[in-house]
Amino acid sequence: LQKDLKSLFSNPPLENSFVQTQGWIRSVRSMKKIAFVDLSDGTTFNSIMIVTSPEIAKDLQTGSSIMAKGSWVKSKGKNQLYELSVTKPEDLQVIGNVEENYPLQKKFHTAEFIRSLPTLKFHTSKLSTVMRSRSFMEYKLQEFFQSENFIKVNPPLITGSDCEGAGELFQVESASVVAKKLANPQDKQITPFFGKNSYLTVSTQLHLEILAQSLSKVWALSPCFRAEASDTNRHLSEFWMLEAEIAFVDKVDQLTWFSERMIKHVINGILTNENGALDNLLKNSKRSKEELLEIENRLKVLQDNNKNWYQITYNEAMDLLLSSGKNDWKYLPPVRGSSLSTEHEKYLTNEVLKAPVFVTDYPKDEKAFYMKINPDNETVACYDLLFPVMGELIGGSVRESNYDVLLKEIERRQMSLPDLQWYLNLRKNGSVPHGGFGMGFERLVSFVCNIDNIKDAIPLSRSIDNCDC
Ligand code: 4AD
Ligand code: MG
Repeated sequence: LQKDLKSLFSNPPLENSFVQTQGWIRSVRSMKKIAFVDLSDGTTFNSIMIVTSPEIAKDLQTGSSIMAKGSWVKSKGKNQLYELSVTKPEDLQVIGNVEENYPLQKKFHTAEFIRSLPTLKFHTSKLSTVMRSRSFMEYKLQEFFQSENFIKVNPPLITGSDCEGAGELFQVESASVVAKKLANPQDKQITPFFGKNSYLTVSTQLHLEILAQSLSKVWALSPCFRAEASDTNRHLSEFWMLEAEIAFVDKVDQLTWFSERMIKHVINGILTNENGALDNLLKNSKRSKEELLEIENRLKVLQDNNKNWYQITYNEAMDLLLSSGKNDWKYLPPVRGSSLSTEHEKYLTNEVLKAPVFVTDYPKDEKAFYMKINPDNETVACYDLLFPVMGELIGGSVRESNYDVLLKEIERRQMSLPDLQWYLNLRKNGSVPHGGFGMGFERLVSFVCNIDNIKDAIPLSRSIDNCDC
C-alpha cells in the first residue's frame, strides 16, 4: 500500500525522502514557472501541496484523481511545513479524469447544492469532516461500552411488533407475494412471507430486553426505520440508534448517570484531540472563526466533569416553561399533561437553562407502553435527554417488569396481545428489573459537527420522497 495522507502527517517521512501517494485534486494553480496542486485523499482534513512545473500540471483539473511520486521537501509556503516536489512527467499520473463542468470547484457551495450531488459530496471538506467525526464517535462509543463490560449484540431489523406504538412503520413483504396479491386481488388465501405482517424495526429495544435478561448489559448500534410523514431537519426515515439495555436497574437515575458518562467519554476523546479528532473538526472546513469557537465552546460546556447535567422532572420542566413569561410561541404553547414539543425543548435548553437537561417522569399517556408506571399511577419512570440546539437526543426508561401491570397497560392501549405475548412473557422465568435507552446517533453527530440538517450527518439520507441514491 502506498502512504495515505493521514499517515504521511502522523508519521512524517524524513526530509528529502521519496514519497509516493495518491488522491483527488482540490485545486490547481499554475504560474509562469511553477505549479501548485492541492491533493487530498479523505483520510484526513489535511491536504498536501504538490509542487511541480506548469508543463507537468497542464492537464490537471480539480476533482481528477492522480498518483504522484516525488521528494518530501521543506516548503516555502506558509500553509504547510513540507511539500511534495515532482519533477518528472511520468511521476504524476492521472488515474481518473473529470468530465467537463465538474460541479465541485474551489468556491462556496450551499448545503443544498452539495446534497444534490450524492456521489461526489464527500469530496467537500465539510462532509468529509462529518464522516471522519462520525467514525471516531462510533469508535469512542464502542470503547466506552467495552470498558463497562457490555456485550455488543445485533438484534433483528425485521420484526412483527411496533415498539413505540406510533404507527410509523414500514411494512416488509416479499416482491413475489406482493405480485401475487396484485394479480389476484380477491384471493384472501395468499399468505405473507413471514406468515404474518412484518415491519422494519423502529427500535431494537424489545429484543435487547431478551438479551439483557441473560447477558445483563447489552448494547447495539442499529439502523432503525420510521415512516415519518414530515420532512424536518431532525428526522430521517432511516437512522442509526444506539441502544443499551441493562438488567438489575430499577431507577431512572442509574440510566441518566450512565448516559451522561457515555456522552462525556465521546466528547472527551474529541476535546483531547485523540486521533486528531478536534483538529478534524476545527482546523479544516470553510467555517468562520466564530463558528469554530462556538463548536469548541459547546463541547467544553458538556464536558465540565465536575458538574453533572441538570435533571428535572416533567412537572418541573412545565413549571419553568409556564413561568417563563414567554407568550409568543410559534406553534402550540406548553400545556401541563401534554408532551413537550421541539420548540418547548429548545426553549428550555437554549434560553432557560443554557445547558443539557434530563427531563424525567413524563405523563404515562405521552409515552410508550413498556415504561414502568410510577406509584402515582400518572407518570412513568422515564427520561429524555434534551440538548441545546438539538432538542431530544436520548429517550429511555425503566421497563415495567410486573407481568400483570404490563398486561393491563397493553390492554388499556388496545395493542395486539398475540403479537406482544413473547414480550410479556419476558416478565416470567427469573426475570429481573431492567431499563435502557436509545440515542439517535445522527443527532449526536449533528450536534458535535454543528450541522443544521440531520441529512448531512448520515452518508446517504432517506426521508420522505428521497430514496434516490
Ligand atoms: O425516543 P425514541 O423514540 O425511543 C425509543 O425508540 C426507545 N425504544 C429507545 C430505547 O429505550 N431503547 O427514540 C430514541 C432516539 C430519540 O431520542 C432520537 O434521538 C432518535 O432516537 N430518533 C431519531 N433520529 C433521527 N430520525 C428519526 N426519525 C428519529 N426518531 C428517533
Ligand atoms: Mg422519544
